[in-house]
Amino acid sequence: MSGPYRTDVDLGAFNTLALPGQAARYQRITDAAQLADPTLASERRFVLGGGSNLVLTGDVDRRVLHMAIAGRRLAGEDDSAWYVEAGAGENWHDFVQWTLAEGWPGLENLSLIPGTVGAAPIQNIGAYGLEAGERITRVTAWDFTKQAVCQLTRNDCRFTYRDSLFKQEGWHLDGRLAITAVTFRLPKAWQPNCRYADVAQELATRQITTPTPRDIADAVIAVRQRKLPDPAVTPNAGSFFHNPIVSAEQAAALKTAHPGLPTYPQPDGRVKLAAGWLIEQAGWKGKALGPVGMYEKQALVLVNLGGATGNDVKRTMAAVQADVLARFGVSLTPEPIFL
Ligand code: EPU
Repeated sequence: MSGPYRTDVDLGAFNTLALPGQAARYQRITDAAQLADPTLASERRFVLGGGSNLVLTGDVDRRVLHMAIAGRRLAGEDDSAWYVEAGAGENWHDFVQWTLAEGWPGLENLSLIPGTVGAAPIQNIGAYGLEAGERITRVTAWDFTKQAVCQLTRNDCRFTYRDSLFKQEGWHLDGRLAITAVTFRLPKAWQPNCRYADVAQELATRQITTPTPRDIADAVIAVRQRKLPDPAVTPNAGSFFHNPIVSAEQAAALKTAHPGLPTYPQPDGRVKLAAGWLIEQAGWKGKALGPVGMYEKQALVLVNLGGATGNDVKRTMAAVQADVLARFGVSLTPEPIFL
């Protein structure tokens, strides 16, 4: 049957772990109007962005909607902020660099994060002391159930650490919504955010004491390039596990037993632990099981060393989880989506 989609499309190039898998039906979405096609509402769907937070475990018996909606513009301005809107398919890093070049800072700490603008709200991407949710003011999406455009405010999105309404409701898995555009509020009263030790260190090395937004972006890019593998060279999906958040009691007990453990107190009294440290201490930094290992410079990043399948990823993931649990009594939750 012919349609607006292609059949049996290899998704290997569309996921940054470079895992094999075929989409039964594959459609590139370049215009939000394509989503109003009523046949889509009755079909099983998966909404794909940059594929940088995805573990493909095999072939996909759904219609894969590959979001490629372009466009970025200054949507508004008032005394306090610029409001910048971008299409879901825009490359995240290119978008951030464009805002900086236009003189609208505020996203510089999120430079070089892989993926697309439309995926940013779903797991509330974050790095170096900033989360995207702090800047997002509106998310525009197509709701397949209501067959209508919907607009969500920041509050609607229920952002927390690597989490949002979209994940809490499972919409990232069942394809209920397709995010088509995101609007960011970039305050005019800009303040450098360089408290994160790695960024502060990089700026100090460069002898920069009053950094511009561009200086911070450059420092973040340098730190990331040093620590994180380039998916084009070594396929990966960024941090593979969440940093676990445990009770203050459990954190205190772990800290007594392991004084080197990095701990980050949370506003609610709980404590976030560095999963990368736990994984390294469990012996997994630079270690592999078959074709899947944990990166030699950042143990939180799982890497495909060549020819891995989704099952190979699952095997290494389970082995790492088991070792960290046995050693520290801490369960690690994967960050990517399994399809
Ligand atoms: N650490 C180790 N060994 C390792 C890795 C880390 O001991 O192999 C220690 C570090 O020395 C440091 C602590 O763990 O004391 C934290 O490490 P790092 O600063 O590298 O950050 P992270 O907690 O591992 C998180 C995010 C990253 C983000 C960085 C910077 C998560 C799951 N990951 O990593 O996000 O770039 O902070 O803000 O929250 C991503 O989500 O894909 C991602 C890359």
